[in-house]
This record gives sequence, C-alpha cells and structure tokens, in this order.
Amino acid sequence: MTMQSDLIGRSVQDLDTPSLLLDLDVVERNIAKMAADARAWGVNVRPHAKTHKTPAVAHMQLAAGAIGITCAKLGEAEVMADGGIGEILISQEIVGELKVHRLIALSQRCHVTTVIDDLEGAEALSQAAGAAGITLDFLVDVTPGFGRTGMPAGEPAARLAEQVARLPGLHFMGIQGYEGHLQFVNPASERETRVAEAMEMLADTKARMEKAGLQLQIVSTAGTGTCRFAARNPVVTEIQPGSYVVMDSRYAGTEAVEFDHSLSILTSVVSRAARSDAVIVDAGLKTLSTDHGPAATRGLPGATYEPAGDEHGRIMYPDGHQLPLGQKLELIPSHCDTTINLHDRYYVVREGMVVDVWNIDARGRIQ
Ligand SMILES: Cc1ncc(COP(=O)(O)O)c(C=O)c1O
Repeated sequence: MTMQSDLIGRSVQDLDTPSLLLDLDVVERNIAKMAADARAWGVNVRPHAKTHKTPAVAHMQLAAGAIGITCAKLGEAEVMADGGIGEILISQEIVGELKVHRLIALSQRCHVTTVIDDLEGAEALSQAAGAAGITLDFLVDVTPGFGRTGMPAGEPAARLAEQVARLPGLHFMGIQGYEGHLQFVNPASERETRVAEAMEMLADTKARMEKAGLQLQIVSTAGTGTCRFAARNPVVTEIQPGSYVVMDSRYAGTEAVEFDHSLSILTSVVSRAARSDAVIVDAGLKTLSTDHGPAATRGLPGATYEPAGDEHGRIMYPDGHQLPLGQKLELIPSHCDTTINLHDRYYVVREGMVVDVWNIDARGRIQ
C-alpha cells in the first residue's frame, strides 16, 4: 500500500483517483486577497472553517490577519482547538445537555463565543456556566430576513438581548446576523441593494439594543457573496466568509465574487464502451455533492459532467469526441463545503506537483 507521504514530490498525474486536490498557490492568493479587501473595507475577518474543516488552513487565515475563526458545529470547533486554534465563534445555537457540557469543556481550553436566539436555550447555558464557575461570551443571533436561525431583527432581537444579558454566567458581546439568502443573488446590483437593506436591519437592531443600555463590541455577518457589500455599513465589525478560500462553480457563476478555484477533483476515465458521445469517470455521488448542481469540467471546452450513480460520473461531448481510457481530468465541485465533507484528505499541490497531504480532520464532525 502506498503511504500518503510517499506521494509528496510526485506529479498530480501519479495520484490514484478520485482524489481531492487543493492548489496551495491559489489558496494563498485567495486568503491574501480577502485579508487585503477586508483591511481596505475596515472590517475584521473571522473566516468560516465549515468550508475547509482543516486547522492547517485556519492557521494560514490567522497568519494573514484573521481575528479568529468561525465554526458551524461544536465538533468542528473541538477539532480546531485540538489543532491549536485559540479564538473560535460557533455560529449555530448550542442546544441540549450533551452539547452544553461539551461547550463548557471547550471553553476551558480556548476562547469560545457562542450564539443565542432563545431565552430557554440561554438559561441552560447560564446555569451550566454558573455551575462550572465560568463566563461565556455570546452574540444574539439575529435574522435579517434569512429565516433560518436567529431572532427577527429589530424589537424582538433587542428584547431577547436585554433578557439574556441579565443572566449570570453569560457576557453579551453583540450580534450575529447572517444573510444567507443573498449570497448568490445575481445581478450583483440587486445583491448590493438587498444586502444594504439587511445591514440596515442589523443597524436598527443595534440602535435599539444601545437604547436599552447594552454595549455591542461585535456585529458579525456575511459570506463570500455578500461581504463586499455588507462591509459598507459602518455597524459591521467583522465578516465570516468561508467558501472564498477554495471556491466552487456556483460561486464562480455569482457576479462580483473575485476568487479563484483552488479545489478540484482528479478523476479517471474508466469506461468508454456504452456510448460514443460520452465517457464514464470514477467520480460520482460519493465524491462530489450535487445539491448545487453538477460539477464543472476543467480544460474540456464543450464537455459537461453529470453524476451517473454513487461511484460514476458521465462526461458528455456534444460532438462525439472521446477521451482515452485511464485519462485523468479535473472537475470543479459545484458546492465546496458538502464536497470537502466527503473526503478524508486534501492532496496539496503546487504547479502540478504534490507538496503535502492534509487530513480533513473535521470532516464528518456534524454534531
Ligand atoms: C453563519 C454563516 N456564516 C458564514 C457562512 C459562510 O458563507 P460562504 O461559504 O458562502 O462564504 C456560512 C455558510 O453557510 C454561514 O452559515
């Protein structure tokens, strides 16, 4: 059996397939661009690690100036803490005794900020923090029209903040308001207008909280598709983009998102027998997620990919052209987060050579 470390120094073409490739030059460029953009916009970056799920990438983001990282799940946050990350925002509500205990344990080995959108949930956190003799920093989760988690912006969110800020063991830091429904809106001019409206909802919520005597140090919002517009509202202190590091074909089709693809799937042609206008590759549903549509082909003008079951994909050529058996080619995932979560490791490449192999340590950490 080939040791993963034996692959370092070899050509990408020597890798077995399917494999998840991560182009480190592009990762570095994307991270540097987001850091420079955010500096110019006057906001902090707290990148979302739910995309890459790997402490090595989080450390690169911190080295470029990120103030901490964001995680979706406690399990991801635990992996990041194991990997030496000391400043973590968990952007989803922590509910249930098991998770509350894990959160308390995690907060004793790194600085964790949590989000709250319910008084009952807050009381459970307050009691657990009190019993452990600690204070937990939290943001009130506010929805500026997304309607997933979060108290409706305005008076309901302000009322909740007032109630929760009084609870012992909890320390109010501000608000999180994620506008997830706007990330992919085209044209960009429409996204710009709607993001401005969403940020006004957060500004109004902040003003109501301040009127009630609360102080907000943090207003955290935005993803890859919205951060450039969200950052224009002076109430925003930080952005939480995730996908920009690796990109995917859905974001590539979103106007005014100027990052490059660092993520691809290396796949091989394994069958040509069934059709003259298509070949079958070894990347199917277990390799590429399809919730945002089929992957894009790279370097094959006119060719399209469709999944052909769990283990197979079909590359179709309108002109009937065929690829040789065993030919290796790259596909660009349509949704980076859900594709990365299918893989154990990244084959890290520069200029077509494998330079490292990184385990995707938080892969599958959905709890
Ligand atoms: C709360 C929250 N913040 C930020 C992001 C990052 O978004 P993106 O990957 O589109 O940059 C997400 C993604 O789902 C999210 O759920």
